Amino acid sequence: MDTTRKYVALVTGATGGLGTAICKRLSDDGFHVVANFKNAEKAEKWKAKLKSEGYDFTMIQADVCDFDSVGDMVKQIEKEVGTIDVLVNNAGITRDGQFKKMTLDNWDAVMKTNLYSVFNCSRHVINQMMDQNYGRIINISSVNGQRGQFGQANYSAAKAGMHGFTKTLAMEVARKGITVNTISPGYIATDMVMAVPEEIRNKIVAEIPIGRLGGTEEIAHLVSFLASKETSFITGANYAINGGQHVY
Ligand code: CAA
Repeated sequence: MDTTRKYVALVTGATGGLGTAICKRLSDDGFHVVANFKNAEKAEKWKAKLKSEGYDFTMIQADVCDFDSVGDMVKQIEKEVGTIDVLVNNAGITRDGQFKKMTLDNWDAVMKTNLYSVFNCSRHVINQMMDQNYGRIINISSVNGQRGQFGQANYSAAKAGMHGFTKTLAMEVARKGITVNTISPGYIATDMVMAVPEEIRNKIVAEIPIGRLGGTEEIAHLVSFLASKETSFITGANYAINGGQHVY
């Protein structure tokens, strides 16, 4: 590992609530942050806002559901920024609804964005991480992948799948200086959670022993920890960060 250069961190779904906090924190930690996005219009506004706060990220558009689009993004990053040291698989969506009414489209959309994306991004960075004998892959899963949640058969399946992937990949690359870990946030104050109808959301918050939603910066703090060089003996782990909502 060349310690003289700035480490490069790629964050997928960067313009969302968690993605934003993760980009800021990794930048504060000294990483060269590459922020992946899908929606150009949203990304432009996001970049301008973050610039006004003093952050200047490299922005790259790619649909993480698409293997070749991700391949092109990774090649571009390697050429223009440098090899990727940290990959944060953060992109995710919900398409909630009872399973008896779930459409194939809503199943596919969640699988592709939340789980295929993890394959696509990890597959395109892993060989280069192995060549450089260093890497950190951090998969942002969910409490609802660890337990079930009414209305989230698609999301729970994809999020549980992420950690199955983490465990195996962690074993396969352990001798190559690469760690692979999962973070399972509970209910965090993001647009995704605020989209849950208020009445239902209030009931969910009432089930959280700490008595509030989590903060995005609290998740970013854990990402920062797992992205650091010092955590080289932590791999294949699943970190619950949910205010005590699900303890096991
Ligand atoms: N347990 C049992 N029954 C429940 C229930 C629950 N937790 N929640 C709703 N129901 C029942 C209702 O009582 C109602 O029953 P009846 O039909 O007998 O009246 C029925 O389910 C609701 O039927 P709808 O047709 O209105 O519901 P739907 O199929 O469209 O689904 C829902 C409703 C969208 C799932 C809604 O309940 C909801 O939004 N739930 C919250 C889901 C949630 O927590 N999502 C998390 C999003 S944030 C995130 O995912 C981030 C993260 O990682 C944590």
